[in-house]
Amino acid sequence: SNSLPTKAPPIFEGLPFIGGIMKFASGPMKLMADGYEKYGEVFTVPVLHKQFTFLLGPHVSGHFFKANDDEMSQKEVYEFNVPTFGKGVVFDVDHKVRAEQFKFFAEALKSAKLKLYVPYFVQEAQDYFAKWGDEGEVDFAKTFSELIILTASRTLMGREVRESMFNQVADLFHDLDMGMLPISVIFPYLPIPAHWNRDRARKELASIFSRIIQARRGSDSKEDDMLQSFIDSRYEKVYGGRYLNDEEITGMLIATLFAGQHTSSITSSWTGLTMIRDKAAWAAAEEEQRAVVRARGEELSIDALNDMEVLGRNMTEALRLFPPLIMLLRAAKAPFAVTTSTGKTHVIPKGHVVATSPAFAHRLPHVFRNPDDFEPERFVAPREEDKAAPFSFIGFGGGRHGCMGSNFAILQIKSIWSVLLRNFDFELVDPFPEQDFESMVVGPKPCRVRYRRRKLTL
Ligand code: HEM
Repeated sequence: SNSLPTKAPPIFEGLPFIGGIMKFASGPMKLMADGYEKYGEVFTVPVLHKQFTFLLGPHVSGHFFKANDDEMSQKEVYEFNVPTFGKGVVFDVDHKVRAEQFKFFAEALKSAKLKLYVPYFVQEAQDYFAKWGDEGEVDFAKTFSELIILTASRTLMGREVRESMFNQVADLFHDLDMGMLPISVIFPYLPIPAHWNRDRARKELASIFSRIIQARRGSDSKEDDMLQSFIDSRYEKVYGGRYLNDEEITGMLIATLFAGQHTSSITSSWTGLTMIRDKAAWAAAEEEQRAVVRARGEELSIDALNDMEVLGRNMTEALRLFPPLIMLLRAAKAPFAVTTSTGKTHVIPKGHVVATSPAFAHRLPHVFRNPDDFEPERFVAPREEDKAAPFSFIGFGGGRHGCMGSNFAILQIKSIWSVLLRNFDFELVDPFPEQDFESMVVGPKPCRVRYRRRKLTL
């Protein structure tokens, strides 16, 4: 119930009973554009029995990002992941347990660990592209999903999987992935073949990882991957301070893979596609590679990658234009007030689903000048458009639940594109692709790219 009815957000009117859902189906981007034009930064869309309230743009999204879990909760809106990730982890546990499990993610992704992962990012990329011919045609979406699952299996799932079980585990992850359909968000346990396959794959992965974990527990040597980090993780304030069990470790690995796989491979694709389309951006990144090689030699060390500001900005600009997670959700567990840029205050009632959108917020013309254009220099002084207000650039989310893998992702994408900039030229065969808004994680529609091997002249 709403105790302050006069202040509730405007309701998107004229939608028939399941209208909201149809609008969602025909594209949340259109829904947001229409709502924003009619009502401004804050409005509510009824969808079946739920009220979705949108907070669009940095002026109104602060509470979404900053509030604690008792006010803005992820559990209710992301619970559909439970059959995929497994029981006992992330969205299947209360906030206290979850907070500790997120410390384990943070531990596994901290900078000391990233230093260990970088040589694997580079090695996997070099090996993968060494297999390409002198000339040929590829689709980046396929290229980078293959490469990133190879890297993930090395840095995340560990040597055992990478060296002797890669194909089997990759197939199981594929089945798990295919079990995540738009319908699964609303009915995660619907008895359909995709869900049966998902459940079978989840069980097989658990038994594979259980065997690996047992073997590692019985050995003295330690590996340098995320699996090891989870095996060594121990609760502090819950469950009597025990270590994670096999089922939880498997769940944490799957959750990490789901957070990082499509997001990173899609961002690798757009980074390349946008640089290939924009010759100046490509030339600047190529020139930067020369400068880094001159200054530091050929090795792609973590320091060399951190020096690559031009490549970094090209990637950020690709992520601004084409964020793979177009909508982020929370459940309002307590009412809260937001004031729009025109000075209207709305109170969002408890129980609403609250949504914000990187894809929409990143195209607001009062935040990003020429929002539809690829202009990496918008991140440099004097423009620094991402810094004018907090939560302007939200490709990695932000605030309390901002991406924990952003540095991992940035280093991996820079590794991949450094190897490519140093060894190949590219041109688009098809027109620059549109976004495929029909998938859960939004990437480019198929687009063929032509590569030609060449050496970077110093
Ligand atoms: C959260 C984007 C790569 C791990 C998020 C969120 C976004 C995001 C937008 C916030 C979700 C929300 O607020 O509801 C991306 C993008 C990536 C990427 C665009 C690649 C370019 C990765 C990688 C990992 C990772 C590689 C792990 C290795 C996580 C985790 C969270 C998260 C654990 C949850 C944080 C929390 O809820 O407190 N990511 N991500 N991400 N990401 Fe990433």
